[in-house]
Amino acid sequence: MKTIFVKDYNDMSQVTYDIIAEVIKNNEAPSISMTTGGTPRGLFELMVKNINDNQLDISKTTILNLDEYVGPQDAPYTVRTFMYSKLYDLIQQTPKAIFLINGAATDIEAEIQAYSEMLVANPRDVQVLGLGTNGHIGANEPGTAFDSTIFLAQHDESTIESTMKEYKISRSEAPTEMVTLGFTEILAAKQVILMVSGAHKAEAVRNVLEGPITEACPASFLRDKENVIMVIDEAAASLLTK
Ligand code: F6R
Repeated sequence: MKTIFVKDYNDMSQVTYDIIAEVIKNNEAPSISMTTGGTPRGLFELMVKNINDNQLDISKTTILNLDEYVGPQDAPYTVRTFMYSKLYDLIQQTPKAIFLINGAATDIEAEIQAYSEMLVANPRDVQVLGLGTNGHIGANEPGTAFDSTIFLAQHDESTIESTMKEYKISRSEAPTEMVTLGFTEILAAKQVILMVSGAHKAEAVRNVLEGPITEACPASFLRDKENVIMVIDEAAASLLTK
């Protein structure tokens, strides 16, 4: 893993944007897999601005996602809602292809199989990740085996609480399960970028970088992987001792 230490949220967004923009500019048919939530909002804003200013051409780019909540897809917290409201509905270009997991599928196992085949057909240049306060990536919660492949995950209570806070919804409205890429597919991307910002992530960052590599802290598995870049701001790095 390579670590890039930056000042704040804006710098984290900019550094990540610059890496992705280079990949898009230097590839014939780039494929970028995104994450959602509070962490990548600034990255999405930069993408929208640069695409609409014609600084970034995404006409040959495939954009896909890491995960999706199970349930009605028009809910405010879904990956689909996020991707359309923060990117697809705001840009004046059309990506070459868009793939999203259908969390409303009646047969989730068939949906998992179909998405899995799509991933094989569309090798990813970049996989963007955020970090859960409990160390999760995607919905690979603590305890998930390091050889996980795309699966239907149950959220930890702390993850449900984060979703409630992020989307201002009640416990009964909050989703409890999600289809997620496993560690296997996450690490199959050529480059994985783990973005982390804020003091509320500081303990997780310390566990990822200085604790044991253990299923209790899912993202610790990324530490010895050469294709991973972790972009960390000062607040998130504040508990590091080394
Ligand atoms: C969301 C996802 C999650 C988030 C993580 C951090 O698609 O995969 O793993 O990246 O929960 O969430 P935020 O960015 O809201 O702190």
